[in-house]
Amino acid sequence: MPGIAAPRGTHDLLPDAAPAWLWLHDVHARVAGAFGYQLIDTPIFEHAELIERGVGTGTDVVDKETYTFKDRGDRLVTLRPEGTAGVLRAVLTANLVQEVRPVRVHYAGPMFRYDRPQRGRQRQFAQVGVECIGEASAHLDAEVIEMGWRFIEELGVTGVSLQVNSLGDGDDRRRYREALIAYYEPHAGRLCDDCRTRLRTNPLRLLDCKRDADLVADAPRMTDSLGPASRAWFQQVVDDLGAAGIPFTHNPRLVRGLDYYMHTSFEYWHESLKGAQNALGGGGRYDGLAEVLGFPATPGIGYAMGVERLLLAAGDGGRVPPPQPACDAVAASLEPEQAQAAAGVARTLRNAGVRTVLDVSDRKLDRKLRNADRLGARVVVLIGPEEQAEGSATVRDLRNRQQHRAPLQRLAAAVAETLASPEATPA
Ligand code: HAM
Repeated sequence: MPGIAAPRGTHDLLPDAAPAWLWLHDVHARVAGAFGYQLIDTPIFEHAELIERGVGTGTDVVDKETYTFKDRGDRLVTLRPEGTAGVLRAVLTANLVQEVRPVRVHYAGPMFRYDRPQRGRQRQFAQVGVECIGEASAHLDAEVIEMGWRFIEELGVTGVSLQVNSLGDGDDRRRYREALIAYYEPHAGRLCDDCRTRLRTNPLRLLDCKRDADLVADAPRMTDSLGPASRAWFQQVVDDLGAAGIPFTHNPRLVRGLDYYMHTSFEYWHESLKGAQNALGGGGRYDGLAEVLGFPATPGIGYAMGVERLLLAAGDGGRVPPPQPACDAVAASLEPEQAQAAAGVARTLRNAGVRTVLDVSDRKLDRKLRNADRLGARVVVLIGPEEQAEGSATVRDLRNRQQHRAPLQRLAAAVAETLASPEATPA
């Protein structure tokens, strides 16, 4: 009988893939740290209302993709589909913006969207992200976009195109909504079902439709609805990105899947990820979000990137580190009588900083050696009756096929020397 499978749209991080996973998170923390961003961590579930109001009803994420359920106390909760609403809630609840402005934070963790699974799209996926909260400045938009770009560069991922757009402010959005409705209404009869609903609820989302692509091509451009202040804001971002030497495309059709954006919005696209899954990450400014969540008006900007998508892209020529051996050394006894002595040896080696696995099996010696080799160990330390009697251990170099005895007092040094010695090149 097959065992119970993992839920659809989830995946397991297996040990071979762990070094790449850790490396990516390290690089992100380092790049964000270089810009003065500090780590924040928020709950995986939130009150359903936070997500509903934050991400916005009328978005696919809220209408079709949330995992929402009642807990045992009859409270409606949602597994977070993204991190921004929760991070903003945390920062504002803790009054961090009273102390310094802006608050600069980075985060990492799992997100949940009930999406149709395919390559690069899962129901549980991980994001790394940043939020810069409490100050409205176009220079911060450029800072955040640059940080994301530097992160991707550090991963060694190439073939990325940065798409940037301005969604303007509330007035610009209202003007643009009206222009879109006026344009689409005569075609309402031929729109797909989703788009007919969106025309009433969220017309900007019509620009995302793949089925009505010909209509999208001739639709009015957001840029034409921008007022002078929004144009100046966007120009500042464009100038700053130019000064930072970051290549980008102004894409007036770029709309984001979440509702809270205004002014600058952006995505990092990758050539190898096809179709709707081509975004490695994205973000934008969300100056109206705090009020929607019931807090005093507080501006903010941030991005989030998909860890699995980044690893797929980094796997094609990036700097992903290879799988690592589980240990440097294996400690084993020849007979059950020396088991505790072998455990003592393992302890000594670990205390000296040598990653050591204790072989507790009662297998024969050649099986123990083979097992140590499979674990990737360079050295096996053996204790038999003779070694135990004289207070020593046998240090066997699996690569150079040499061995010698070392007194227990010198054991850590002897193992360290073996690990540091060059490996013989195979004949
Ligand atoms: P988002 O564009 O919805 O933005 O998601 C950011 C990234 O998460 C995507 O570009 C993609 O790489 C990854 N992602 C999204 N859905 C999935 C999925 N089903 N499977 C795998 N990866 C996925 C946000 O989440 C915003 N909170 C970004 C932000 C931060 N805006 C301001 N601050």
